[in-house]
Amino acid sequence: MTSGPDRYPVDPARAARAHMDRAAHEAAAIAARETPEAFWAERAKRLDWFSFPTRIKDVSFAKDDFRIRWFEDGVLNVAHECVDRHLPARRDETAIIWEGDDPKDSRRITYGELHAEVCRMANVLKAQGVAKGDRVTIYLPMIPEAAYAMLACARIGAIHSVVFGGFSPDSLAGRIEDCGSKVVITADQGVRGGKVVPLKANVDAALTKAEADRVIVVRHTGADVPMRDGRDVDYATAAAGVSDDCPCEPMNAEDPLFILYTSGSTGKPKGVMHTTGGYLFWASWTHELVFDYRPGQVFWCTADVGWVTGHSYVVYGPLANGGTTLMFEGVPNHPTVSRFWEVVDRHRVEIFYTAPTAIRALMREGEGPVKATRRDSLKLLGTVGEPINPEAWRWYHEVVGEGRLPIVDTWWQTETGGVLVSPLPGATELKPGSATKPLPGVELQIVDAEGHELTGAVSGNLCLTDSWPGQMRGVWGDPQRFFDTYFSTYPGRYFTGDGCRRDEDGDYWITGRVDDVINVSGHRMGTAEVESALVLHEAVAEAAVVGFPHDIKGQGIYAYVTLKAGVEANEDLRRDLVAHVRTEIGPIASPDVIQWAPGLPKTRSGKIMRRILRKIAENELSNLGDTSTLADPGVVDELVANRPGA
Ligand code: WT7
Repeated sequence: MTSGPDRYPVDPARAARAHMDRAAHEAAAIAARETPEAFWAERAKRLDWFSFPTRIKDVSFAKDDFRIRWFEDGVLNVAHECVDRHLPARRDETAIIWEGDDPKDSRRITYGELHAEVCRMANVLKAQGVAKGDRVTIYLPMIPEAAYAMLACARIGAIHSVVFGGFSPDSLAGRIEDCGSKVVITADQGVRGGKVVPLKANVDAALTKAEADRVIVVRHTGADVPMRDGRDVDYATAAAGVSDDCPCEPMNAEDPLFILYTSGSTGKPKGVMHTTGGYLFWASWTHELVFDYRPGQVFWCTADVGWVTGHSYVVYGPLANGGTTLMFEGVPNHPTVSRFWEVVDRHRVEIFYTAPTAIRALMREGEGPVKATRRDSLKLLGTVGEPINPEAWRWYHEVVGEGRLPIVDTWWQTETGGVLVSPLPGATELKPGSATKPLPGVELQIVDAEGHELTGAVSGNLCLTDSWPGQMRGVWGDPQRFFDTYFSTYPGRYFTGDGCRRDEDGDYWITGRVDDVINVSGHRMGTAEVESALVLHEAVAEAAVVGFPHDIKGQGIYAYVTLKAGVEANEDLRRDLVAHVRTEIGPIASPDVIQWAPGLPKTRSGKIMRRILRKIAENELSNLGDTSTLADPGVVDELVANRPGA
């Protein structure tokens, strides 16, 4: 299955009933460019604004005049958009299908029930003193309460910060502290792949380092967890004492909706801030267009709500569109590697959206576990998070999709709020491995290292020359960092941090990060973060971390470690360092390879030459480039000779 066509044309029958066919796509791209105000004002009617915006777009990426504002004077509420406005037509329709880690556990929540649950959670938050503008940290497993909590915050105008349940107490503490959350919503425990995740215990540990006044605890497994008097609140008890009705706070379009922490090339993770109107519009519009979504279809995005993909395509996009979203607590290989497809069959999933890393892991198990299921409800497949290699694309297409389903390879980022580059199922010819074309209103530019625009079929760095409504609005607590990170490298443009190729047809192929960010199983990790964690260990003098190609994860984490004088390098220490990074950050940051490095390649001014470290990690030893500027070129020979597996 390694070979197959390079192009898959649009099925005309699909084009005929799609939200956007090719002609409409081209017309929309022109209209968005030439008459943006009219274009976006018309599109914004998809939301049920309390007060429709008259000021549509106010954007400048210039240093001395920097501003990004969309639908500025519009007033709305995200919980109203995602819940209340659907009640007249869909009170008894399913909003959320929940599938537990254990295949015996599943539940359907109607829009009517969702309304009551969100209101109850909102009233519990209010009773705990949470008001408009306050931050609330959500540290929950993939259970419906995670969606209730997000929508409850939105309902009362509180700003949520969801922290992935796989992050360590230390990472959680840093995120609670950074945004000044006074309330944390968690569960007794989570369960993934049959293993318990001690969420409440992690919160207790985090709160020895950060401060919060209240911890609201949802009972999920029912395990006995210690509750601290005066701080911890049992959710069920609190919810029983409040009304299941709560008014929606009128919010300005530019009021913050949420903060989501993400890794960058330097420093601590930054709090990416999204606002109410532009973000929700983008989540909703892209969900409809990219997945050609219609209410009634069961939509399943496998991402955790702790990542932006879960925000936009488990919760906000599908619910804003009055859809049915499937929320899965478990993992693809539990109890068996057929699990995804069994869930598809059980709940008649029509649209399935996952990450290339999951596809590659399942591909390794062969066709049998897929073929044991029917998958006849499926109408569309999608991928996100990292480049998909054509081999995995073809397996997804042929084996999972029986050769009959389009695949949308969606490129976007935490910062972009929703998809920016993707095929549209009724409009775009597919090419395995290419995210193909920008959505209407998305103005891409490929530049060289100096920022000169490159035209035609070229490779370079990917920028955007204009804003789109779903763009992030700031780094929480650090406005300067927002500008410096994204707008200072290539003045007047937003720099994505990604490398990209454009082919002869104008299709885009994302090649991966060009900064010190690595993409491990579709999750972003800053090399600097892993280095900081390593040097906190008492045995470590210095560390340098780079990515390397990994068959399943896309990229793995390769750490060069210099030990303190007199410390012996051995297997026990290696294991100890991996465990240490897991404790500091979380399992997703576990180094795959640790190489003992008596010295690191540095310039005479002391700068580590990562380019060389990357080549050694990639096993590109014939092509190390110029090492003559190194303070001690001998260091490189030593690292090459002692490369693990060399
Ligand atoms: C980075 C953003 C977008 C939600 C999940 C990740 C990489 C994302 C693709 C794709 C190639 C992709 C990029 C991007 N990426 N989607 N379809 N093809 N690369 O969000 O953690 O903010 O990471 O993921 O490198 O910059 P994120």
